[in-house]
Amino acid sequence: MKLYIIANRLPVKVQRTEGGGFEFQRSEGGLATGLASLDTHNETHWIGWPGIHTEDPVERAAITEALEKMQFHPVFLNETQILNYYEGYSNNVIWPLCHYFYAYIEYQTLYWESYKEVNELFLEKAESLAVAGDVAWVQDYQLMLLPKLLRERIKGLSIGYFHHIPFPSYELFRVLPERAELLEGLLGADLIAFHTHDYMRHFVSAVERVLLLRFALDRVIVRNRTVHVDALPMGINFDLYHNAILDPLVQEKASVFRENYGGSKLVLSVDRLDYSKGILHRLKGFELFLKENPAYLERVSLVMIVVPSRDRVERYAELKKNIDETIGNINGAYSTMNWTPVYYFYHGLPFEELLALYHIADIALVSPLRDGMNLVAKEYVAAKRDQPGVLILSEMAGAAIELSDAVTINPNDVVQISDALSYALDMSKEEQLDALKRMQAQVSRHSVHLWAKRFMDELMGIRLKNMENDQKRLVGVQAEKIRKAYRKAKSRLFILDYDGTLSAFKNRPEDAKPNAEILDTLIRLTADPMNKVVISSGRDHTTLENWLGHLNLDMAAEHGAFYKEKGVWHKKEGPMVWDAEILSIFQAFIDKTPRSKLEMKETALVWHYRRVDAWLGTMREQQLVEALMEPCSRLNLQIMRGDKIIEVKSPNFTKGSEAKRLLKQAKYDFICAIGDDTTDEDTFRALPKSAITIKVGGVSDQARYYVLMQAETLPLLNFWMDDTSTSD
Ligand code: UDP
Ligand code: G6P
Repeated sequence: MKLYIIANRLPVKVQRTEGGGFEFQRSEGGLATGLASLDTHNETHWIGWPGIHTEDPVERAAITEALEKMQFHPVFLNETQILNYYEGYSNNVIWPLCHYFYAYIEYQTLYWESYKEVNELFLEKAESLAVAGDVAWVQDYQLMLLPKLLRERIKGLSIGYFHHIPFPSYELFRVLPERAELLEGLLGADLIAFHTHDYMRHFVSAVERVLLLRFALDRVIVRNRTVHVDALPMGINFDLYHNAILDPLVQEKASVFRENYGGSKLVLSVDRLDYSKGILHRLKGFELFLKENPAYLERVSLVMIVVPSRDRVERYAELKKNIDETIGNINGAYSTMNWTPVYYFYHGLPFEELLALYHIADIALVSPLRDGMNLVAKEYVAAKRDQPGVLILSEMAGAAIELSDAVTINPNDVVQISDALSYALDMSKEEQLDALKRMQAQVSRHSVHLWAKRFMDELMGIRLKNMENDQKRLVGVQAEKIRKAYRKAKSRLFILDYDGTLSAFKNRPEDAKPNAEILDTLIRLTADPMNKVVISSGRDHTTLENWLGHLNLDMAAEHGAFYKEKGVWHKKEGPMVWDAEILSIFQAFIDKTPRSKLEMKETALVWHYRRVDAWLGTMREQQLVEALMEPCSRLNLQIMRGDKIIEVKSPNFTKGSEAKRLLKQAKYDFICAIGDDTTDEDTFRALPKSAITIKVGGVSDQARYYVLMQAETLPLLNFWMDDTSTSD
């Protein structure tokens, strides 16, 4: 099994040298630096853009050859693709949207066209390399369509996706014209993970609202598969940063820097050039700090490393200008002959220099307005080793969830930034070391290796589970085997649920009348005198009688409260549910839950919330159960949770008790029950182990088999009834 990490950027970027050759430098950004130090147990390959533009086939071949020695497989982009896919859709649309910079979105239709085209290019490269049994791990927002493309084109591939940036609230995400395509693209993966549970929650909500799918906790069924989501915060290679200062070169750099900055306390900030990083707010906060704390003039300097990034995108170029100006103004106003308030570097630093700076900095000021994770915060904590230091961290960074011992700030509030600097400078050495120690324990435990391992373990677990589930899936050989058993049997019992099994769900329950396909199938099934067919439903008996009464079959209505046998309906005894107190509780919930409705059956009351907003429905459902709990136990009534319903009924009958009653009446050599709801699991449980129990909609522990969706049920019944003389 090979692992393919597929990311927009390779961990190294190719640059031209003056001599006309090429050199390879490490790429910027958390994704590349974080994943670069990954060591998995599998043979690992990367697929990504080498960060250089060349159309020359000879140059491309030379670059490819050099990169492939490192198991990096380049995807070359042309100028238009860089402009429209990378700078355009990725960084002028998705990036600002996911970082809540709505006004920064610059939308153009050709951006989207290019985004699709480049996702296809990545697919082509993957297709040329990966085979069934391999794993593709797609990284980040530039490739949101790729999981689905891979799923369609490379059979047997396990696919994971990690979203390294925030996933915004549905209210923001819904503005994207291509919101459905992007979500569908991601749902091609087996596992989709985010840095925090908030991003995961937003994603789940977007999928439920945009695609009208329903999650069961962390899972959702998409066509024929289950997709899992999780929150897995990314870590760093702790040892690399923690031990860096043991390297003599880093030590030497550290002492040179310390000397250069004189006796000043150093506040360090390190970011890519990005408006999401809050660089301007930070400068304003530092300026306010100088203004309000004259005692610190000539005693504290801000060392600001800004790594160039996306500078051809207008907002980035504009930001760069503003940063230059703001720093110019601060230094112009406050500098003295002996002191510079802000040291500004607009370029990346070699690893050793960055680590030396982390080590000597008294404070790291990490204040993004939004950040998926922020690895710089974790790197600083690790690199301090046993030296004191204070991490001031924005509460808007994903890292803030784990680094709860940092001094946290709202990065929009310049007064808080200034106050946090004063507070940090006043912290005792012991307090600093205490907080660092706790954070180091956290960062060292949750390393990038553990992150990758957890992701891969989860993905492999899903692969195994899918394989097990495939065994239970009623298709092909399994369905054929049952057809043979059907032909051999002389006395057969069918217990069939109606809604969601024979008939598809409709928004209005009264619209789920049997269509020609349902009626034809039931007529066929009941035409065989060796078949006893029972429709076992939660519906009221009048509706069932109206819809199916003319057929030669038996029925059980309202979960067995009524049953029809030899053309006559019978009612079982049970307590009365139409208690005024219960009714008034239901009524109150109807009033405050738009689109929910009450169904009043003779022996049961049912609250339907299929059409209610997903979030509201889930909350009201829990509230309703809570409100019903006490009166129902007092009145000896049962509260039953079904598929988007809450039902209050007598505990004396269930679909299971009805199945038991049927079993007592005769001996059968072929028993088949099909159902989609939790109430049908009572039927499955009541039947002997040898029965063909089939859950519609996904695997169930209670059923021997499953079909994925309602649309498969009728064809399956017809398949068994079809003449098999040729295949027997
Ligand atoms: N970094 C770098 N070169 C530099 C300065 C920083 O490669 O000159 C690295 C830094 O060590 C960190 C990454 O860039 O690993 C930035 O990651 P972060 O998660 O903080 O932000 P992102 O750039 O991903 O938004
Ligand atoms: C962030 C993104 C990455 C991206 C990195 C650098 O970390 O999440 O996907 O690679 O920034 O940005 P760039 O546009 O230079 O690749």
